[in-house]
Amino acid sequence: MSKAYRALLDQIAAADIAYHQNDAPTLTDAEYDALVAQRRAMEAADPALTPPTTVGATPAHGFAKIRHRVPMVSLDNVFDAAGFDNFVASIRRFLLLDADAPLPLVAEPKIDGLSLSILYENGALVRAATRGDGTTGEDVTANLRHVPAVPQHLPGAPDLIEIRGEVYMTRADFVALNASQERQFANPRNAAAGSLRQLDARITAQRPIQFFAYAMGDTSDATAETHSGFLDRLRSWGFAVNDRSRSLPGPADAAAFQAEMAAIRPTLPYEIDGVVYKIDSLALQRRLGLSGRAPRWAVAWKFPAEQATTVLEAIHIQVGRTGSLTPVAWLAPVVVGGVTVTRATLHNEDEIARKDIRPGDTVILQRAGDVIPQVLGPLLSPVPGAPRGVPYTYPETCPACGSPALRPAGEVVRRCTGGLACPAQATERLSHFVGRAAFDIDGLGDKTIAEFFALGWLHTPADIFRLAQHRDALLQREGWKAKSVTALLASIEQRRTISLERFIYALGIRRVGETNARLLARHYLSLAQWRAQMTEAMIVGSEARSALGNIIGVGPALAEELAAFFAAPLNVEALDDLAGQLTIEDAAVSADGVLAGKTVVFTGTLETMSRLEAKARALALGARVSVSVSARTDLVILGADAGSKARRAAELGVRTVTEAEWRALTG
Ligand code: IVH
Repeated sequence: MSKAYRALLDQIAAADIAYHQNDAPTLTDAEYDALVAQRRAMEAADPALTPPTTVGATPAHGFAKIRHRVPMVSLDNVFDAAGFDNFVASIRRFLLLDADAPLPLVAEPKIDGLSLSILYENGALVRAATRGDGTTGEDVTANLRHVPAVPQHLPGAPDLIEIRGEVYMTRADFVALNASQERQFANPRNAAAGSLRQLDARITAQRPIQFFAYAMGDTSDATAETHSGFLDRLRSWGFAVNDRSRSLPGPADAAAFQAEMAAIRPTLPYEIDGVVYKIDSLALQRRLGLSGRAPRWAVAWKFPAEQATTVLEAIHIQVGRTGSLTPVAWLAPVVVGGVTVTRATLHNEDEIARKDIRPGDTVILQRAGDVIPQVLGPLLSPVPGAPRGVPYTYPETCPACGSPALRPAGEVVRRCTGGLACPAQATERLSHFVGRAAFDIDGLGDKTIAEFFALGWLHTPADIFRLAQHRDALLQREGWKAKSVTALLASIEQRRTISLERFIYALGIRRVGETNARLLARHYLSLAQWRAQMTEAMIVGSEARSALGNIIGVGPALAEELAAFFAAPLNVEALDDLAGQLTIEDAAVSADGVLAGKTVVFTGTLETMSRLEAKARALALGARVSVSVSARTDLVILGADAGSKARRAAELGVRTVTEAEWRALTG
C-alpha cells in the first residue's frame, strides 16, 4: 500500500472520528468529500488497493466491537442490612446450607468507574474491551497499551486469562484535568470513561487513568481456590488490587465493614458508591452461577442515596411505549452526587396526591447510583396561609393523542387507549426497538425518530428497514449530510440479521424484558415456532397456553400479556411485516450440554441439592425446565415422595430418573 494512500486513509479516519465520535468536525463537508473522492480515484487506478472496510465494520462510535469470551455481568444491589440478609439467605437456600454454616466473604470497595476486560495470552496483553452491553464491548486495546496502571505482561499467568476490573480517576486528578482544559467532565467517572474512550490513544496515554483488578473472565487454568487467593495472584502479576479489600469470616461481619467504609468514604482518594461482597470459595461461586444478568455469589451494598432540595418548576406527563402515563418533575438544575439533575420521576398520580406535591414547591430530591432520580416530597409541610401553587390535576386524556387515559381498578398506572395510533406510544416503541439491548441501531435517536415519524417515513419498526427509500429526500433535509445518511443506512443494514431473543425483546411487549425474551427464545427456538405457539396460546385453556404458563419463569401474568399482544391484529401485522425484512437467527441451545433442547420436570423433594440449584444446572446444560408433565416432556427427575407427576410420567411413558441418576447424568 502506497504511503500516500495510507496517509489519505488516516486523514479520513481522523475526520470520521472528529465528526462521529467527538462531535467536533475538523473538516468542512466539501473538504471531506474531496478526500473521499481522492481515495476513490486512487482505488480505481490501482486495483491492488483494498478499500477500507465499510462504515459498518468500524461503528460510528469509532471503536471496533469485541464479543466477550465470557459475558460481563453486573451486580444486584441492596441498600440496607435487611437486603443484605436476604442475599445471604438466598445463597444458603440455594446451597442447602444451615444458617450457622461458615460462609467466608471478601469485601471490596465498589469503585465508581467503568469496567474493563483485559485478555492476556501467554502472559501478554492482547486485547482490552469495555463492558458495552455485557456481551459485546468496544475495543480499547490501543488505549490500554500506554496506561501504566495496567501491566503489559503477567509473569507466570495461565496461557489465557481475562482480567476484569475498574478503570477510574482519582478525585484530585479529575479536578486537575478539568482545570487544565476547556472541556469539563461532570465527575471522575465520566472523566475516566472519556479519557479511555479516546480514539487517539496518545491522548489516553496522557490522562491519569487508574485501574483496580477484581475479577476473572475466561481462563485456561485455575488460578486459585478462593477469591482472596485470586486477589493475591493478581498482586503477584503486578495489578493494583484495592488495599481496602478485606476477607471477612462470615456475613455477620459485613455490617461493620459497611459502616467503616461509609465513615472513611469522604477521605478516600477515589469515589466509591458502596461495597461489593463476594463469596470467597470459587467452588461455591461456580455452583451458584448466574441468575439473569448478575451472579448469585456477589452483591453490591450501596451507600444511602444522596439528597438535595430544589424547586419543582412543572409537572409533565410522559407517555410510555405501553401507553403508561408517567409524571415527570421538571426541576431547577441542582447537583446531587456529582451529577446535575433537571428531571426526576414522580412515580404515579397517587404518589403526587399522597405527598401533596405541587408545581412551585421546593422539593426533596434523591438519587441513588444509576437509578432515576426521584422526588420524595415537598420540603416542608405547607404552612397554613402561606402561598402555594394549586394542587396538580392528573390528566384523564393522553397528552399526546387526546385518547381517553384509563386506570383499571386496582392499578396505579393510567394508560392511554390510543394504541399504535398514539404518536407518543408509537415513537416510544420505536426508540425501544432501536435501543441497545434490542436492535442497537446507531444514529436513530429520539429526535431523529420524531423527525421521521412526522414525515410519515417511520410508523412501525419495519419502516426502519425501508428508510433507504427516502435516501434522496433525506439528503435534502437540513442537518443531514452524505456521510451521516450513509452511516445511518449502513448501521440499519447491519441489523437485518438478528437473534431471536433480541427480536422478541425489541417488540416491546409488556413484561417482556431481556430476561423473559431470552427465556422465550430458548424455549421456542425459532420465530416460526414461537409465532405459531403464541397464536394458539391466545385461546385460554389451549395446550399452548398452559405450556407457555408452565415455562419456569413465565407464569400466568406474562402468558396473558403475550396472548393479548398476539390477539391484536395490528401487532401481528407489524410483526410479520418486520419479520419479512429480516433474517432471524434461531436461538442457540448450548449444543454440547447433555440436556440440550430437552424438556425436564422436577418433582418430589431433592435431598442432595436444592430445587433452585438443580433447575439452574439443568438450564445451564441447555434444558428447558417445565412445571408439568406432558407428552412433550423428555425427562422427569423424581425426588423423594414424588406424587402425581411421577404417575403421569409413567402413564405417558416419559423417561424418569432418580436424584442419584440425575447427578450422574449431569456430572
Ligand atoms: S465484581 C461478576 N467488584 O460495579 C463480577 N464489580 O454494579 C462483577 N465494580 O460492572 C463485578 N467495583 O463495574 C466487582 N470490587 C468490584 C467492583 C465492581 C466496582 C463495578 C463494576 C460492575 C458494577 C456492577
